[in-house]
Amino acid sequence: MKIAVVGLGYVGLPLAIQFARANVTVIGLDVDAAKVDLINRGRSYINHIAQATIEEALKEQRLCASTDFSRVEEVEAVIICVPTPLSKNREPDISFVIETGQTIAPHLSKGTLVVLESTTYPGTTDEDLRAVLEEGSGMKAGVDFHLAFSPEREDPANEQSKVKLIPKVIGGYTPTCLNRAMALYSKAIDTIVPVSSCRVAEATKLLENVFRSVNIALVNELKLVYAAMGIDIWEVIEAAKTKPFGFMPFYPGPGLGGHCIPIDPFYLTWKAREYGKHTRFIELAGEINTAMPEYVVHRVVDVLNARNKAVKGSRVLILGLAYKPNVDDERESPSYVLMDLLIERGAEVAYYDPYVPVIKPTREHSHFVGKKSIAWDQTTIQNFDLVLIATNHSSVNYQELGDWAQCIVDTRNAMSGTRIASGKVWKA
Ligand SMILES: NC(=O)c1ccc[n+]([C@@H]2O[C@H](COP(=O)([O-])OP(=O)(O)OC[C@H]3O[C@@H](n4cnc5c(N)ncnc54)[C@H](O)[C@@H]3O)[C@@H](O)[C@H]2O)c1
Repeated sequence: MKIAVVGLGYVGLPLAIQFARANVTVIGLDVDAAKVDLINRGRSYINHIAQATIEEALKEQRLCASTDFSRVEEVEAVIICVPTPLSKNREPDISFVIETGQTIAPHLSKGTLVVLESTTYPGTTDEDLRAVLEEGSGMKAGVDFHLAFSPEREDPANEQSKVKLIPKVIGGYTPTCLNRAMALYSKAIDTIVPVSSCRVAEATKLLENVFRSVNIALVNELKLVYAAMGIDIWEVIEAAKTKPFGFMPFYPGPGLGGHCIPIDPFYLTWKAREYGKHTRFIELAGEINTAMPEYVVHRVVDVLNARNKAVKGSRVLILGLAYKPNVDDERESPSYVLMDLLIERGAEVAYYDPYVPVIKPTREHSHFVGKKSIAWDQTTIQNFDLVLIATNHSSVNYQELGDWAQCIVDTRNAMSGTRIASGKVWKA
């Protein structure tokens, strides 16, 4: 069997590799010629995907990459994994999905299966994508070609989270579409979870991400309340999670990051308006989570103040640019917001992140492009007035940091377990 995976990013590349491992021939299609070239040369551009994995798939002739979308004519199925960001006005931007639909439609053959994996609001697959595919191909979905939605559940850098082992929810436009999609995914993935429609599958993904956003907001709010009472939220969570039922730990932080949790819930908010419905939990969680960087910066101001220093003119090191530990993904990272807020107040800001040696161009924060991570050594670290831990990468030596730094504001409880002189570490 031969398939195409469109969009070779954090979702599409691991998926393409998993299909290749399952003896399916995969053409990876992307508009980014640099990525296509790297794959064809056996190189990985995602930190947690080993080069050897790509080389093996190339050697077996199970994977190749291309910018030529007419190659959709060669395949039995197309899986779309392109970005679904928010616009400047925080509204869903499904233009990448629509563009992909328009590009592939003229090349669809009778009987081809098209599956959307990008996270989006209910109705995208069977309304928006279906319309462009039908218009561009002159064929009817569910009659001439098949259509389905199957959300991605990738958890980058989580060793337990292998694409093959994560149950795959699938909804089809018709029962036959569903059967075709189940037959495809069961080649590469152990557990398939069929649902009754594309909309149910789309809504399932949103529930999963809204659940995380709301629960993270809850612990972020409790962090502030407990801190005012002199209680450490981290100790409380450790104790609460010993309950063997009815509790699942979530952890506070400096704000939300990544391509999913800060964005996806608002896809639902936008769509709900069409039905005259409000998503109050989502809005409240968004409000609390986006206020977190301000809170952290206030803590930084207080800590510097306690050390007879003003923010203005202080040298602050942000530790961790990636939005979560042990990944090289810094999209939507709260570290950028922290840097902006501190620079606005006159601080001189640098960052250290072993996963992000230099800031590459992204959709936002263009003013930081080209900025480099500092070196990890005692002289450099001790020269900063304050180190702000935004991401707790496990490769960082926190004992060393504690020994070298003048003072530390810790938003991740990364310094727990180190032996540091009292008064040096402040939680935020
Ligand atoms: N990253 C995650 O952990 C994760 C998890 C679950 C779901 N998702 C969802 O999966 C989707 C993809 O996310 P990602 O993190 O892989 O994004 P990404 O930015 O890493 O990758 C997207 C890829 O699509 C390519 N692309 C953009 N426009 C294109 C077009 N018109 N045609 C072909 N290729 C195009 C880009 O060049 C890029 O290589 C999003 O909807 C996201 O919300 C992401």
